[in-house]
Amino acid sequence: MSAPQILATGRCLPDRVVTNEELSKAVDTSDEWVFSRTGIHSRHFCTTETGLDLAVNAARQAMDRARVTAAEIGVCLVGTFTPDHASPSTACLLQRELGLMENTICFDLNAACAGFLYGLHTAHALLADAPRPYALVVGAEVISRVMDHTNRNTCVLFGDGAGAAVVSREEGRSWHTVFGSRGDRSSIRVQGPGPVPSAIHMDGKAVFRFAVEVVEQSIRQLLEKEGLSSVNDLDLVVCHQANARIVDHVAKKLKAREGLFYKNMDRYGNTSAASIPIALDELVQSGVLRPGMRVLTVGFGGGLTWAGALLEW
Ligand SMILES: CC(C)(COP(=O)(O)OP(=O)(O)OC[C@H]1O[C@@H](n2cnc3c(N)ncnc32)[C@H](O)[C@@H]1OP(=O)(O)O)[C@@H](O)C(=O)NCCC(=O)NCCS
Repeated sequence: MSAPQILATGRCLPDRVVTNEELSKAVDTSDEWVFSRTGIHSRHFCTTETGLDLAVNAARQAMDRARVTAAEIGVCLVGTFTPDHASPSTACLLQRELGLMENTICFDLNAACAGFLYGLHTAHALLADAPRPYALVVGAEVISRVMDHTNRNTCVLFGDGAGAAVVSREEGRSWHTVFGSRGDRSSIRVQGPGPVPSAIHMDGKAVFRFAVEVVEQSIRQLLEKEGLSSVNDLDLVVCHQANARIVDHVAKKLKAREGLFYKNMDRYGNTSAASIPIALDELVQSGVLRPGMRVLTVGFGGGLTWAGALLEW
């Protein structure tokens, strides 16, 4: 069996930090309300940066750390639901910026907040027949551009950013995945593209119920595939960073030990496809995530989509 191996990661957040305090000057909210409901204190919003800028910086970091050159990349995928253009894809523009070869397989994929794990799975499959042995998988979002900044139900939840990973295909490693999709457009939907101003429409309670259900189910399925009886047999669990209460709820149901489930949404908010690679990068750079560890990661979001992976780091 082969598995994707993440050789290195990178991340890029736009410079501007927006606190709950600042948002409370524009909409009727408070730091107390937002933090107690979501675990979010602040997020980053782009000013002049584009999604491509964030993707380029995160990807360059990952490639430098992996010591992989542009000439060695055969696949370049970007998970995003907020590309700079409907076409060309961010992946194609990234190819040019990074100087990747012309015959690199480049495209964006939209699986909302599950986008990075869909990308990882797709890149692994494509590497079997790619012109070169390494793939670049990026999650990059500029959600501040598609939000209604006057709607307190949604504008406090999201942030901008990008995370990237350089991936190779390794034989003899174990990895398990789960995927799903429900064809649902009422729980969470982003208007556009087109002449209508974009805005996120969300039934927060429905999304919450969906998230706790599929995250718990995905973790149980992945543990079973690996022959593990408890989530505490893992070294780390990295869920999509939408809401601390979703993560805490699942951790409690699975009787997880303190600290097993990573959380960083306090500083970034929900960065959709970027949230998992940003979290992985923070964990690697801080020395928490080390080679040989067993990591389980789960993404979920609009679609409704979800994806989980259990891999050896
Ligand atoms: C969005 C979410 C935080 C809302 O929390 P909630 O406890 O369900 O709150 P409700 O939507 O029931 O709203 C309760 C009240 O708070 C108000 N409210 C909503 N947003 C608010 C805000 N930012 N500040 C202050 N009050 C707010 C509502 O207007 C409502 O007021 P009302 O009772 O007078 O009508 C929660 O449902 C959630 O996290 N859902 C998951 C969303 C998510 O993660 N989406 C992305 C998935 S990828």
